[in-house]
Amino acid sequence: MKIAVIGGGSTYTPELVDGFARLGSMVDELVLIDPATDRLAVVGAFAARIFARHGHPGKVTWTGDLDAGVTDADAAVLQLRVGGQQARISDETFPLGCGCVGQETTGAGGLAKALRTVPVILDVAARIRSRAKPGAWIVDFTNPVGIVTRALLDEGHRAVGLCNVAIGFQRRFAGLLGVDPSSVILDHVGLNHLTWERAAYVDNVDRLPDLLTNHISEISAEVDVPSEVIRALGVVPSYYLSYFYAHDRHVRDARNAPTRGQRVAEIESTLLEMYRDVTLDAKPALLAERGGAFYSEAAVGLLASLFGHDDNSVHSVNLRNNGTLPFLPDRAVIEVSARAGLEGPSPLPVTPLPPDLAALITHIWGYEELAVEAAVRGGPDRVYRALLAHPLIGQHEYAAKLTGDLIAAGRDHLAWA
Ligand code: G6P
Ligand code: MN
Repeated sequence: MKIAVIGGGSTYTPELVDGFARLGSMVDELVLIDPATDRLAVVGAFAARIFARHGHPGKVTWTGDLDAGVTDADAAVLQLRVGGQQARISDETFPLGCGCVGQETTGAGGLAKALRTVPVILDVAARIRSRAKPGAWIVDFTNPVGIVTRALLDEGHRAVGLCNVAIGFQRRFAGLLGVDPSSVILDHVGLNHLTWERAAYVDNVDRLPDLLTNHISEISAEVDVPSEVIRALGVVPSYYLSYFYAHDRHVRDARNAPTRGQRVAEIESTLLEMYRDVTLDAKPALLAERGGAFYSEAAVGLLASLFGHDDNSVHSVNLRNNGTLPFLPDRAVIEVSARAGLEGPSPLPVTPLPPDLAALITHIWGYEELAVEAAVRGGPDRVYRALLAHPLIGQHEYAAKLTGDLIAAGRDHLAWA
């Protein structure tokens, strides 16, 4: 099997490569594709050393030529970042001017990222479709994953969106319960970066109540949401919900601290120096300071299922709703646990949601619908409307100012601006 990684020059790539080296025996060729060819050469050579260290029989190749790289691929992984960390730092700061959270996937920053990213992704996907093998899968890691996956599916691509939030909970809960991670099946529900764990089944018994009884303070600290909130809801929100439940505190904190993008830029330059060392053949500990824990296992596991190399196991993925959440239209893209096989992922049944979860999901679904529209068709009016629809923005004065700020900050990456 040939797998193409678009954005393969990322300092994150060794995480993915490590997963394929350890677990991906089905891979014959891993091709890393990136326009930043200097960086790609460093990351590519390091990736090849990781494969060699594990005695993996497959080869790692790299190229700056997208069309050549994706030719005859069986699957493509999208992990590109339009505008690099500079654009991310802008996403994390410009909304603060209105007292709104600055974040790369949530709120106005997430919209800015969607606007510059979706057109690039659609161009890349079209080129993949014309050169990869018929029926090749596109696995999207590129944020904002829900919006990007929706845009890909609307164009008819064979795409599935992936995030590591759910696998992180699965691994964490398994550790707390002292069981094997693969035995934990989550009732993970919502939209990308707007999810809750409503149950954690081990041998068909829901162990979430035990986890909340015995470990609520650790869980609360990890998701940055107070125990009272978790207790009141009876479910575990992801870290991204803290931007909703503690919005104003995040804004205050952000005003007095460097951005995550600045920290990531520092980590990236140190990592790149490390990767240049030709004796290094395993991912360095510093990589764990990035947010991508278990990404590689999520990706390798999902691809193994999609290509029939396992027993249709369960993965949390972004896919069309098609009736799973009855209060959303079929075309909506949701993030839930799904059983995946050769025909693609199909959601596990979801028990009815309580009104507070359903309401927030519906509100953000409405925003995302308008965000996809703005990203695909462009124009300040569509941007304004998406911002006005977002529950963390909502007011006309803010939506109007943020529309101007977003377009001014993103001008270099927005064809229509
Ligand atoms: C988590 C999220 C990803 C996000 C990452 C950010 O893994 O699920 O979607 O990209 O965190 O990590 P970073 O190290 O870039 O802050
Ligand atoms: Mn994610």
